[in-house]
Amino acid sequence: MLLDRVKPLDAILATAEKKSLKRTLGWFQLTLFGIGCVIGTGIFVLTAVGAQKAGPGLMLAFAIAGAVCIVAALCYAEIAAMIPVAGSAYTYSYATVGEFFAWTVGWALIMEYAIAASAVSVGWSGYFTGTFLNEFFGIHLPTWLSAGPLSLGGVEGGFINLPAMLIALLVTWLLVIGTSESAKVNAILVLIKVVALTGFIALTLTSPAFDAAKFNPFLPAGVFGGFGTGVGAVGAAATMFFAYVGFDAVSTAAEETKNPQRNVPIGLVGSLLFCTVFYILVAAGAIGTIGGDPIMGANGPLVTGSPELARQCAMPQYADALVCSNEPLAHVLRVLGFSWAGNLIGVAAFLALPSVILVLMFGQTRIFFVMSRDGLLPGALSKVHPKFRTPHVVTMITGVGVAIAAAFFPVGSLADISNAGTLYAFTMVAVAVMMLRKQDPGRARSFRVPAVWVIAPLTIAGCVFLFLNLPSAAMLFLPGWSVLGLLVYFLYSRQQSHLGRGIVEVVDEVGGEETMIPIHPPKD
Ligand code: ALA
Repeated sequence: MLLDRVKPLDAILATAEKKSLKRTLGWFQLTLFGIGCVIGTGIFVLTAVGAQKAGPGLMLAFAIAGAVCIVAALCYAEIAAMIPVAGSAYTYSYATVGEFFAWTVGWALIMEYAIAASAVSVGWSGYFTGTFLNEFFGIHLPTWLSAGPLSLGGVEGGFINLPAMLIALLVTWLLVIGTSESAKVNAILVLIKVVALTGFIALTLTSPAFDAAKFNPFLPAGVFGGFGTGVGAVGAAATMFFAYVGFDAVSTAAEETKNPQRNVPIGLVGSLLFCTVFYILVAAGAIGTIGGDPIMGANGPLVTGSPELARQCAMPQYADALVCSNEPLAHVLRVLGFSWAGNLIGVAAFLALPSVILVLMFGQTRIFFVMSRDGLLPGALSKVHPKFRTPHVVTMITGVGVAIAAAFFPVGSLADISNAGTLYAFTMVAVAVMMLRKQDPGRARSFRVPAVWVIAPLTIAGCVFLFLNLPSAAMLFLPGWSVLGLLVYFLYSRQQSHLGRGIVEVVDEVGGEETMIPIHPPKD
């Protein structure tokens, strides 16, 4: 039967018990960790994309996307505190809805993390070429080397985004040699990002150029631009959702948290609330000073990443437009005459975004790794490097894929595609929470979602709603990718699955000990 392969939760938990990490993290460290994973290209770069979709309604978009993430975060908190092992939504699904759906979640997560890493690489490239090369060294990288081709939704005259490709490869190399971010480095980077964004908010909101009239009309493209169009406030919310992606990383630290019942939800929800308020203020500062009106075509805002928008942005009258900038926050400050502050924000993005790429690629390789150790992907992929003790094969494959996508595609489209996969994974986490409440009500839960029968369905509804408001090309990418995944599953993974062959193998960390639990008789 298709849906009968469910991994026994006890087997999964056996590993977690063996690992028994020391509980050292408090709510403050968790919140810092969350903010470190979350703040990145979404606010530093996609602000321009979001403004093109919704104008000042971008602020509403941040609130909508933040609200969906907060209910999803509560579901994550319950399940992560209960099943604190590697693999995130993939592992939770394996223990509840079974191997088939777990495969689809894992397959979607591979796409989510890898494409998100590409999006952040492209975002970083904007600040690298604009601030670092151009402002500091007067080097103007030709367009053909700094943007993807027009035919793929890039910029006129663009051919390859070399800096984006190189940063993706550099991060790949760091991961291969075993770099992971220490808590101290994370704390410093969080400080840099928060100080930079606070400075931005203070300078813009107190600037004489700030004028409430710039918020009129507040919703030039309406609240709802129509399913699949990707415009209007909810269309922008579906894109700006990217600005919150990464908080699920906090859930993976549940096992190391003191008093998880209290601290995990505070860390998850606290970091998201903090970011939501921050993002709305940043959007208010940018739009209230230089304006954020979308460039309109005959049928509403021109599509972000479209050749037509690229052509319009090349016109002199849009030289200062927020929606045309690759480094919008630095751009706003420069237009206001604070070039030095614009450069500082550019430096903050330049320093901090690579760590977001690192966290995302790290997450991707670990999902790949766990799936490979479950037998669903070839074992050769999860080979561990003899010296560096890292899964170097999957890391390099991932890195090359991330670099290629970063080289040729625009940031907005990459973010939208990544969001499609994430929204699916969040939906399945909400399903898993409800199923576990039904199937296993007596099991200890160190955190319980309050009003779960309201919050979990709300999460599902919110994710489905945002998904339907993505541009149709991004929406269609998920089924396309899933068809490929199903082929791999039925032609390879289903036969090779360890669980299917009667073995439950749980490996929680790269190079770590394995727990092998045979089940007899083997299923199917
Ligand atoms: N939330 C992360 C970012 O905005 C992925 O870069």
